Amino acid sequence: MTALGKLIRTTTFKLTLVYLTVFALFAAFLLGYFAFNTRRLFTEQITATVDAEISGLVDQYRSGGIRRLVLSIDRRSRQPGSGLYLVTTAQGQALAGNIGALPTGMINKTGWAETEYRRIEDPQSIPHQAIVSIFQLPDGFRVLVGRDLEDRERVHDIVISAARWSLALVIVLGIGGGFFVTRRVLNRIDAMTETARAIVEGDMAERLPIAGTGDELDRLAENLNAMLERIEALMRGLKEVSDNIAHDLKTPLTRLRNRAEEALRRAKSEGDYRAALERTIEESDALMRTFNALLMIARAESGQARENMTEFDAAEVAAGVGELYEPLAEERGLTLKVEAPRAMTMHGNRELISQALANLVDNAIKYAAPAGAPPGDSKPEVSVSAGSEGDRVLLVVADNGPGIPEADRGRVVERFVRLEGSRSQPGSGLGLSLAAAVARLHGGELRLEDNKPGLKAIIALPRGGPVQRQDDSEEVRAEGDSAEKEL
Ligand SMILES: Nc1ncnc2c1ncn2[C@@H]1O[C@H](COP(=O)(O)OP(=O)(O)OP(=O)(O)O)[C@@H](O)[C@H]1O
Ligand SMILES: [Mg+2]
Repeated sequence: MTALGKLIRTTTFKLTLVYLTVFALFAAFLLGYFAFNTRRLFTEQITATVDAEISGLVDQYRSGGIRRLVLSIDRRSRQPGSGLYLVTTAQGQALAGNIGALPTGMINKTGWAETEYRRIEDPQSIPHQAIVSIFQLPDGFRVLVGRDLEDRERVHDIVISAARWSLALVIVLGIGGGFFVTRRVLNRIDAMTETARAIVEGDMAERLPIAGTGDELDRLAENLNAMLERIEALMRGLKEVSDNIAHDLKTPLTRLRNRAEEALRRAKSEGDYRAALERTIEESDALMRTFNALLMIARAESGQARENMTEFDAAEVAAGVGELYEPLAEERGLTLKVEAPRAMTMHGNRELISQALANLVDNAIKYAAPAGAPPGDSKPEVSVSAGSEGDRVLLVVADNGPGIPEADRGRVVERFVRLEGSRSQPGSGLGLSLAAAVARLHGGELRLEDNKPGLKAIIALPRGGPVQRQDDSEEVRAEGDSAEKEL
């Protein structure tokens, strides 16, 4: 398609043409109206003066008869710039006046008429146009009084030519302006199309250009860019999850398969088979837990979980998690203390926040009193509390076990990271990743601090829930980048 063809097909250009037509019609109507009314005004003025003159002449005739009338007309028609006069006998013979020629039969009519005429002083000139009133006197004489229409025609011509010019100007400026505006819009749309094509071809990092004028195209580009940002973050999350599944679930799956094979080969009694099957079930359960944790992290990071946000009491969540883990803590010889004295309403995804807190409590129980360690004089303690700090809600889990060395606190929140000393405990290294992802989803953070001795894990969440979408996606992206490095 040629550049011109493309330009003409645009909506902007078509709109310009529509406006142009409407405007041109309006201008034509306005000038036509003006022309018609000036003409009418001229005619009205002429007829009024001619009427007045006629009544004057009739008065003269009444007081002094035809003689006086003829004298008066003769005098008037000799004055410079005078009107048009003619008085004839009943047979049409001119007695006085300044009209040399009239169309034949004209003088025999009565009343108003528009006619051509020639002045008596220049009978050879081109005929002029005049408006005349003709009347008959009682004894057959005919009188014509009129005015030349040259002025009226001249004004009319001026108006008509002004109309033509302004109409031409409107059309030229309109089409020119249309081309100009359309080209500008088209250039920007072309740039956007170009970017969109690059994105379709796989360059997800491309963004639509923004002119900075704040107009509707800029707003559209901004929104599309935000959408692309989101899609990119989601795709990165998806890729991470599938990469993680490929990398980290392959080993346990292979192990599972090898064990089953070995059992088939080696097992002799029914007891052996039973033991092998029980281990298989255990390992499958662990695999499923890992799967679920990965999916939950993906859900939290994609922001999809934002849809299920409600108002709830964080203190109640802390109490609920405490109650849930009480039997396990007791089994491990630990005291579990819950401190959530007053209600603390907040906005967020209750299910994910409960899971995040449960992961921290699970860690505290798991690592503060490792199985098999002889219980000391005082029972090790794990405390779960819900407090606040400014407009943030703090969910704190503290233990006095071995803690996490400061140097490792950054990396333990990454996926599948487990510290050396913890290998004896079951787990896949996803608990803290989920807690951190949930905190980020709500616009908050996961802090790991020294409890001297032990670990103090704090989930700090804004009471009102996540505020700005843009910031969240930035954070998800930052996290995505670091996770990619890890892979
Ligand atoms: N309270 C704690 N005390 C000491 N070390 C801890 C504590 N919490 C976490 N850690 C260390 O951080 C690592 C990561 O914890 P995370 O909860 O992410 O994984 P996990 O507990 O090993 O497995 P999962 O939670 O997926 O079952 C743990 O393996 C452990 O080394
Ligand atoms: Mg854990």
